[in-house]
Amino acid sequence: MNKNIYVLPVGFTFREIKYPEPEIPNKDILMKRLKLKKAVVKIGKELKGGTVSQVYEGEMDGTPVVVKHTENTTPENPHEFFIPNDGGNTDAKILKLLNKVAEVKTPKLILHFPKLTTHIMEDVRSDGFQLLSDKIIKKKLPLNTAEHIGRSLANLAKASREWMDFRTNESAQISFYERAAELLVAFPNNLKLYYALEKRFTQYDVDPEKQEKLKRFFVWPDCHPKNMLVNRDGEVVFIDFGRSHWGDQRYMLPNFLAHIVLYALNGYIKRSDAEKFVQKCIKSYRTVETYEDEKVLVEYLATELMHRAHGKYLTGIEKAEYKLLAWQLGMKVFDEKINTVKKFLSVFKKVK
Ligand SMILES: Nc1ncnc2c1ncn2[C@@H]1O[C@H](COP(=O)(O)OP(=O)(O)OP(=O)(O)O)[C@@H](O)[C@H]1O
Ligand SMILES: [Mg+2]
Repeated sequence: MNKNIYVLPVGFTFREIKYPEPEIPNKDILMKRLKLKKAVVKIGKELKGGTVSQVYEGEMDGTPVVVKHTENTTPENPHEFFIPNDGGNTDAKILKLLNKVAEVKTPKLILHFPKLTTHIMEDVRSDGFQLLSDKIIKKKLPLNTAEHIGRSLANLAKASREWMDFRTNESAQISFYERAAELLVAFPNNLKLYYALEKRFTQYDVDPEKQEKLKRFFVWPDCHPKNMLVNRDGEVVFIDFGRSHWGDQRYMLPNFLAHIVLYALNGYIKRSDAEKFVQKCIKSYRTVETYEDEKVLVEYLATELMHRAHGKYLTGIEKAEYKLLAWQLGMKVFDEKINTVKKFLSVFKKVK
């Protein structure tokens, strides 16, 4: 693990910087480079816009596969970072570790080529899994997924605590800077709040009882419905671990739940269903892990609401109406010092 949180593997943007050209600029070159490594893969259509990686469906030995190649992500505005392509290798490394954890479903890693920052994995769609965000956008959130997602997130936290330290591409510090920038914008005169949350998120704090540094554990901060696939039984597969880091594992559950709240605010999920979903998911998480401090839970949830309102794009949160709802609900958590899930849900139900 990179112990020095202030030495970050990402650089801030300076306009005059000339970033390197992509090493593997298209799928034809990717196929050729893979062939040289004796991996004969037919690469088909790209699976998404390619914000961080280039992900394709493909076929290898007659089996459907997904090919994920990662190039450097270069900043498009002065607030973004340069994210080196090594995140793809972090993803593959974590997949390999999680493939051994029976309680957490992940696509099987088939081949990994670190020098090409490319890995090939099982296409879980062929096992009947569909992207959770696609289902939500169609207003078909399967309520039976709540239990599976809650339990799987808790199992992920639990199992990963056994892992030895290893270097991740990103640090908790930079992750928090990105994910809580809007918290800072909302409360510019309350730096104490930002730093308190940052300390918690990065776990760069001292345990008040033991008087020793808190331990940092594995965190998958991108645990949202675009990185989860679900089947008819409600079972869930987790993907996309490239931006993971070490820090406060309690971030994962509320970060996911924030998306359920967001989609409910803009009408993709009935508010009463979202409320039940949140309760079920937390209950199920707690069958594996404790989550004692609900203030922590609602504060992380609120931070993500504000981030999605004015930061990272989420389908549906485009119009002022929905952005302001998410913003209002997020800010209320801090203004009204909401410290339980019950209080949060009662405000959520009424916000308009
Ligand atoms: N193993 C898989 N099986 C089926 N579909 C997959 C698999 N891996 C990825 N996908 C699909 O490809 C999309 C992009 O993959 P992934 O999230 O890993 O890439 P990314 O570049 O990190 O994406 P983003 O930046 O949009 O989150 C996923 O949202 C999903 O639809
Ligand atoms: Mg993704």
